[in-house]
Amino acid sequence: MDADSVFTPSQELATQAHADDAQYKALYEASIADPDAFWDEHGKRIDWIKPYSQVSDVSYDAGNLHINWYADGTLNASVNCLDRHLQSRGDQTAIIWEGDDPNDHRHISYRELHEEVCKFANVLKANGAKKGDRITIYMPMIPEATVAMLACVRIGAVHSVVFGGFSPDALAGRIQDCDSNMVITADEGVRGGKPIPLKANTDAALANCPDCTSCIVVKRTGGNIAWVEGRDVWYHEAMQVAAADCPPEEMNAEDPMFILYTSGSTGKPKGVLHTTGGYMVYASMTHHYVFDYHDNEIYWCTADVGWVTGHSYIVYGPLANGAVSLMFEGVPTYPDSSRFWQVVEKHKVNIFYTAPTAIRALMREGDAPVKTCDRSSLRLLGTVGEPINPEAWMWYHEVVGEKRCPIVDTWWQTETGGIMITPLPGATATKPGSATRPFFGVKPVLVDGDNNPLDGAVEGNLCIDHSWPGQMRTVYGDHQRFIETYFTTFPGRYFTGDGARRDEDGYYWITGRVDDVLNVSGHRMGTAEIESALVAHQHVAEAAVVGYPHDIKGQGIYAYVTLVAGIEASDALLAELRQWTRKEIGPIATPDLLQWAPQLPKTRSGKIMRRILRKIAANEFDQLGDTSTLTDPAVVDDLIENRQNR
Ligand code: WT7
Repeated sequence: MDADSVFTPSQELATQAHADDAQYKALYEASIADPDAFWDEHGKRIDWIKPYSQVSDVSYDAGNLHINWYADGTLNASVNCLDRHLQSRGDQTAIIWEGDDPNDHRHISYRELHEEVCKFANVLKANGAKKGDRITIYMPMIPEATVAMLACVRIGAVHSVVFGGFSPDALAGRIQDCDSNMVITADEGVRGGKPIPLKANTDAALANCPDCTSCIVVKRTGGNIAWVEGRDVWYHEAMQVAAADCPPEEMNAEDPMFILYTSGSTGKPKGVLHTTGGYMVYASMTHHYVFDYHDNEIYWCTADVGWVTGHSYIVYGPLANGAVSLMFEGVPTYPDSSRFWQVVEKHKVNIFYTAPTAIRALMREGDAPVKTCDRSSLRLLGTVGEPINPEAWMWYHEVVGEKRCPIVDTWWQTETGGIMITPLPGATATKPGSATRPFFGVKPVLVDGDNNPLDGAVEGNLCIDHSWPGQMRTVYGDHQRFIETYFTTFPGRYFTGDGARRDEDGYYWITGRVDDVLNVSGHRMGTAEIESALVAHQHVAEAAVVGYPHDIKGQGIYAYVTLVAGIEASDALLAELRQWTRKEIGPIATPDLLQWAPQLPKTRSGKIMRRILRKIAANEFDQLGDTSTLTDPAVVDDLIENRQNR
């Protein structure tokens, strides 16, 4: 492929899309010139109970950091996703659910979803939930997960969805951190034909969460589970007696809407807090423009609702826009690696949004599994979660999209609430591997290590100047950590933790994290988190974790482990440590490679030299750079000699 390939939107698409290039430029300029006027106008895409009179009130000043949007307006997010559509599209499908088993699917209309949500909101209330409570959702990809989220926001409870792949310990930590007193789960999940013991995991977690006193259980498989009388409630039983009428709670725009835990470079995962008004405006507006969504189109985002992508682009953005949102329970490779495209054919999917890691894994299976399915319904493709390599981009474009479908490579974060840097399909000429240009109202800036903004074609630390409505408001329970993590390294700006390059056309190319955060198959993992899981094992004295390039996962997890004196390294212990991290965090945190390190390379002040460990893990041990500050350079020779990535 020509590295400078550019793919320009067709004239036809430019005409039909919500924005062509001239419109993008005009709207973008307006959004930067007068953000309040811009967001005043576009805030109206959401239905307010009491309209706002004020648009933004923001200060990034560490002494007085606050972020408020539409602060005096009131609304309810579930009304925006449900009630307001009943008249115009009550019988239209809201959710197409495709089960893990290819024979299972359901269509749920807006009217049905509304009724289910109202009933479940009443179930929540009957079980003691009220406005402001934190409710944990630990669910498989079934419609009841969406029902649970919307029912929480209907009564003003704050949901915290925990990905179903997390371990009991990880679940317990998240329940404790936000003082959640209720959890909603299922007996079991099903993925790739295998059961996932969600209720058993919940039981194990709740053993350490004395304040979490109620547990609502959806029956998904009917598998054998334990039951705690007085604590556990069956979803279907409670729903049978629930009234279908539930007036929505009137929420202030800045009332908390949800918490989502995400890994950082230090400490335990932080609870990213999003509030109601700005988040809804931003999720809905980005969904409309970035996916160029038109009425009745079938839209499929393959993410799990346990991640922010599922929140903003399976649930809130699409439903606020009255879209048909497909929800998939399974995995791309079950029953075989043609599954995604079978689903596209079966449901005539028009817009398809997935992760580069899935594309790379499927690309490895060759073109045949794609080509056996009819993809003529597809008109737009998207990616998210990690940088996409140009080869994978080209395969997606040529094989999956038959060269007809524009690709939107969308850069954003849990913290940003919605898409920040992205092409607009009818407006932006794309370049494989580039997330291209900022969305409306987003002002990216590249700075050097001293917070000097860099102009022109250059590489630097990616910050965002000013605020946007979807921005996180705080770290739940730890505002100081919010300030320190995002606003202290580069004062006056929001720091993303990513590096980026800007080319001569002003396009952004995300180069990856510049902090100690890994991106493994699009999942964010803090190295510190894996390290503390490892050292919690009785035989481990010290551990250092780094990322290394991995063909499918983007980054793999490489752990250097120093054992307690007297403990022998063995394959059995290695297997045990891998199992241990699964138990402590979850399968996504399992080290891909583990090396026994008699010692770790340290500076005289005792700091582990991760730069060196990263180079050895990447098998680039001939480029170690300056090692003169090490206490004992011989340590490095041993590590090189026994490196695991060859
Ligand atoms: C990190 C955020 C946002 C939803 C999924 C991940 C990386 C995300 C891209 C992209 C290059 C990307 C960044 C970012 N990332 N999208 N299109 N190109 N990198 O959310 O778990 O909060 O992770 O994912 O490094 O900081 P997240």
